[in-house]
Amino acid sequence: MDLLDSGQKFSPRQDSDWDTTLQFLPAADTKHLEKKSGRRKKLWIGLGLVLSAAAVSLLTGLLVWHFHLRSDVRVKRVYIGSMGIGDQRFLPAYEDPSSPQFSSMATLVSRQLKLIYSKNSVLTKYFKGSSVQAFSEGEGGSDSLVAYYQSEFDIPVPQQGALDEAIESLEPSSQQGRQGRVLLKPVDALSVNNVISRVIDPRMTRTSLQVGESFNVHVSKAGVVQSPGFPDSSYPSNVYLMWRFRADPGHRVRLDFHTLILEDDCQQDFIKIYDSLAPIEHRALTEQCGYPHGSLSFLSSGNVMLLTLVTDEEKNFPGFRANYSQIPLTEQKCGGTLSGDKGSVSSPFFPSNYPPRTSCVWNIEVPVEKFVKVQFSKFLLGNQSNQCPEDYVKVDDKRLCGRKLKNTVITSQSNTMTIKFNSDSSYVDQGFTAEYEAFVPTNPCPGRFQCTNNLCINTTLQCDGWNDCGDGSDENNCECNEAQMKCKNGRCKPKFWECDGSDDCGDGTDEENCEKCKPGEFSCRNGLCISETLKCNGKDDCADGSDESKCERSLVLQQCSEFTFRCRDGRCISKLNPECDGEPDCEDGSDEDNCQCGSRPYRSSRIVGGQMSREGEWPWQVSLHIRGTGHVCGASVLNNRWLLTAAHCVQDNGPNKYSQADQWEAMLGLHVQSQTNEWTVRRNIKQIIAHQDYNSMTYNNDIALMELDKNVTLNQNIWPICLPSPTYDFPEGQVAWITGWGATREGGSVAMILQKAEVRIVNATVCKNLMNDEVTDMMLCAGVLKGGVDACQGDSGGPLSVTGPSGRVLLAGLVSWGDGCARRNRPGIYTRVTKYRSWIKEKSGV
Ligand code: ARG
Repeated sequence: MDLLDSGQKFSPRQDSDWDTTLQFLPAADTKHLEKKSGRRKKLWIGLGLVLSAAAVSLLTGLLVWHFHLRSDVRVKRVYIGSMGIGDQRFLPAYEDPSSPQFSSMATLVSRQLKLIYSKNSVLTKYFKGSSVQAFSEGEGGSDSLVAYYQSEFDIPVPQQGALDEAIESLEPSSQQGRQGRVLLKPVDALSVNNVISRVIDPRMTRTSLQVGESFNVHVSKAGVVQSPGFPDSSYPSNVYLMWRFRADPGHRVRLDFHTLILEDDCQQDFIKIYDSLAPIEHRALTEQCGYPHGSLSFLSSGNVMLLTLVTDEEKNFPGFRANYSQIPLTEQKCGGTLSGDKGSVSSPFFPSNYPPRTSCVWNIEVPVEKFVKVQFSKFLLGNQSNQCPEDYVKVDDKRLCGRKLKNTVITSQSNTMTIKFNSDSSYVDQGFTAEYEAFVPTNPCPGRFQCTNNLCINTTLQCDGWNDCGDGSDENNCECNEAQMKCKNGRCKPKFWECDGSDDCGDGTDEENCEKCKPGEFSCRNGLCISETLKCNGKDDCADGSDESKCERSLVLQQCSEFTFRCRDGRCISKLNPECDGEPDCEDGSDEDNCQCGSRPYRSSRIVGGQMSREGEWPWQVSLHIRGTGHVCGASVLNNRWLLTAAHCVQDNGPNKYSQADQWEAMLGLHVQSQTNEWTVRRNIKQIIAHQDYNSMTYNNDIALMELDKNVTLNQNIWPICLPSPTYDFPEGQVAWITGWGATREGGSVAMILQKAEVRIVNATVCKNLMNDEVTDMMLCAGVLKGGVDACQGDSGGPLSVTGPSGRVLLAGLVSWGDGCARRNRPGIYTRVTKYRSWIKEKSGV
């Protein structure tokens, strides 16, 4: 990323240049002219008007000229840099900026910088001054020192490019390093090995920022850093804070984030980590904001690291807590010679982010008659680009980078293979893990199916309807059985996926010929045909809303209906599910407000027919315990105070007073029953609000709110799910997930580890027929009709989660009831949450 031209900051100076331009204005003269004789008064008034008009246009012209064309309007430009010094050693006193040693060395460095700049006409002309911020041990052993500084220039706007160039010309390119030293070394000054500087990140010079404290942290003893106020309050506004970490010489700094929750928009609040003691862009390791998902363990290349936090005036979040420690530089197993038929390699410190400026080479050699293949099971290496100039993996002659190479197989054409890993000085990533294997060239997948992309998969996965190869080759040219339909592309899919509104074949064949209407007509979901022209007109012409639910453009409508989204300003738009889809559709942008919910935490590392979930995968899932009994029902986190569950969970049952708040205990951030950890929060319930119209015979209105007695601090395992607006459409066939600790088979016992299972939304009419008309419009059906996957006893009240277009997860339903569990043609029945949006708002304010 080139930040050199993004650092412009316009702050026109109030200097004499500026004021003199204003003296040209002749407006004051009109008054003077008025005092001339009365006879000529009229003439003068006319002339005055003309002159005033001229003055106004002159002023306008001057302003335009001043701001756009004048070449001497100056801006402040700040560079952050480091200077490697060869003939000085690092003294402990240099850690303290108030020590006399620090000051005298800082003076030498500043003088040296001035000297260096004096050799360049651009630099010397606009140089304002520099200040030294810190020192560290140099890389060239004990006889070297690094100084970190900031230099300020006042530069005419058009000259900024030239200034950046001049600054960069000071940096000796790697080949001419030695020569650079000679050039830069004046007779009686410091022996400068190198200078690196880059324009400062413009967000760090926002005028509203108070440059706050900087903290010096020694990491030889491990410890914890956190943002101010963490975890009891959110971080302060408008601050720029720095933590300077130093390890013992010969060690690296390691920083592991335990929590990191900032505002979503990196332009406002962010942290940035540097492989340096000053924020030199060239040494930036990462920038993070929002609620990041990747690895949050970072390593420096040398014995220093810098963490910065910048915030703006609004929307402050909990912030961060991180553990720091040091590890010896020698402790890095990477590269080497590998023999043997099988093995694995991974980037240094995987699954932590790899350190910058690192390279490793592995030489793999297998028996002569065999070839080698390597398969990447994880591959996260910066941005994809053609040449992979920055961080890359090189397998024989092939350079690889980016984040799309998971499961890629590369084969050698001989019995050896070389794998090289290289990281440059900035922006690190999680890296890779790969398994290699020797194979006989004539039989690359013994006993298994070979995909076109060279992956080997179990033969049972062939033609099972799922794309296991990743390139679909295991699903091509299949013979379909009688329960399957044949897609045009040769794939087989379950018959009941036909015409369910989602393209399961991948070529749309399963959704073809589903419409029974004439050309020019729109076929409603309920089978009605209406004229195309009635589609998306804001009126419910189908009577099931389907003609109003799939409108591409967001049209601001005169009329609101059950099928439009109501913006905060009261106007309605006609787009399908506009909220939190990443595009502002309302004129007031309110469809994109409050979209922090429904995202998954970064370390996301039964339900019948389900599978174990990963910790943190369902951070809105709550386990509701009855004191002395344990898990009884599920619930979802709506915010730091409110939970949503099923009303049938909170009904008295003989001696069990489930309607009483003090009987309950909510477990948030739980993964394994009876195993709490640092992320788990236990809360008492202050009050329970069950729906006033809950019907225990029909399970209609099966919904209840629970208020916690104390707010919880959201963390990576506790996060709210998004509530869909009343008009949100969950079409049939859409994939949804159910989660819970309920029974793993009908009549079975509850699960210890949170289970998850994938189901699909079932057509309401089909569902009513299957369930003997016991399903109301306040309910939603979901399941797998061939049976085997469902919610069950103990899952009640838990979420039916649907991932929206922007990746946010929405609460489509609450586990309510079913006929047995996971029986064929008996979908699970859920409380349709969209129907209760205003009830929730009214009762809880959420
Ligand atoms: N009522 C059950 C409970 O209390 C949940 C039943 C869900 N059943 C189903 N087949 N989806 O836990």
